Amino acid sequence: MRQPVNLISPEFRANPSPFYARLRNEPIQQVEPGGLWAISRYEDVQFALKNPKLFTSTFIQQSANPEWLKGVGNPLSESILAMDPPQHTRMRALVTHAFTQRTIAQLEARIRTMANELTEDILRQGEVDFVQAFALPLPAFVIGELLGLSAELRPKLRQWSDVIVSIAASVPESPERIAYVRSNLAEFQTFLREVFEDRKARPREDLISGLLAAEVEGRRLTDPELMAFGTALLVAGLETTVHLLSQLMVRTAQAPELFTRLRAEPALIPAVVEEVVRLDSPVLLSVRLTTQEVELGGVKLPAHVPVVVLIGSANRDERQFERAEELVLDRRTQHIGFGYGVHFCLGAPLARMESRIALETLTARCQGFALTGGELKWNTGFGVRGPAVLPVRAIP
Ligand code: HEM
Repeated sequence: MRQPVNLISPEFRANPSPFYARLRNEPIQQVEPGGLWAISRYEDVQFALKNPKLFTSTFIQQSANPEWLKGVGNPLSESILAMDPPQHTRMRALVTHAFTQRTIAQLEARIRTMANELTEDILRQGEVDFVQAFALPLPAFVIGELLGLSAELRPKLRQWSDVIVSIAASVPESPERIAYVRSNLAEFQTFLREVFEDRKARPREDLISGLLAAEVEGRRLTDPELMAFGTALLVAGLETTVHLLSQLMVRTAQAPELFTRLRAEPALIPAVVEEVVRLDSPVLLSVRLTTQEVELGGVKLPAHVPVVVLIGSANRDERQFERAEELVLDRRTQHIGFGYGVHFCLGAPLARMESRIALETLTARCQGFALTGGELKWNTGFGVRGPAVLPVRAIP
């Protein structure tokens, strides 16, 4: 019998595509780690994501808040990501009130200034790790601005986000690790609480003030709900965008003719962004729990089991996309790299804007980029995928 596909093996991390193809041949099967059930075809992935009554997100309420966090708590466990309708519907309406096109548009000029400064630094240095030099600081700046945190805290955001994400994925191996996770969570919440108190006293034209003022059917966000949403923004909005920006660099550095074309025709940039979200899906999977036995693709999924919903595989499904493995600029078919259904990414317009500005700036200021590090090293996170380190040389 063939070995099951292992979603955390180095081979999978380096190039998931052949594994996805194998999974889609037998579209509901168990994978490693843990013998988890995986769904891999576009149609089935879409079905799971649009049926929260059968595939619930509420298991996160327990899994993200284990006993050993008692007294500190993980706000993510109470966030919008951990809700099903109708609770989710109410929360989404409230936060959408504040997280608007206007909130995002207000950031555009500052994101562009930041992207220009980072590009200048890269040009000055010549060779850099693109992750540290650009792909991380740009979204860290954006999340920091959204949460109202002061600039000195930006370097902390990645650490906090990594810690929060690790909670669901692993049982700590040592008391030191437990202490580390607890202190990071406490620290993040302390800083965020200070911002909430400040905006309550002195409202501004920003997201937190907007969230504090948001009211739907006479109901406002409570302090714990505000904390939970702030945590969701950090976790959902930082690493995802870091990987997208890095993947855009990989794709355009590997295809210099594409970079040159974008220099001449910047109007094509949004199409490249969409194709890279599809092909390199920074969020490669989402997990749901079955609420009952569910028959899908001729297979009976047991009740109350976690199911890996493979967004990355759905996005390369040849049943849905012609020339699925190629970057096609005039593609019409919609990918699901930003999810599907009620949890569709709230930050998609922001992520699209950030990556558009990033590519506009890099193509305007540089002739191209060369990858200099040999074989790429990939991150090890379970649900998101991108380069861990990305050495590049800028061609001025
Ligand atoms: C390339 C960047 C991004 C990708 C690929 C991405 C992808 C996704 C996906 C697949 C989901 C659905 C998760 C699920 O169904 O379980 C999601 C949800 C979400 N995303 Fe994003 N995201 C990105 C950037 C952002 C940014 C920049 C923000 C905010 C600053 C953000 C905020 C959220 C939130 C709050 C949710 C939860 C929505 C809900 O539960 O109703 N995301 N994202």
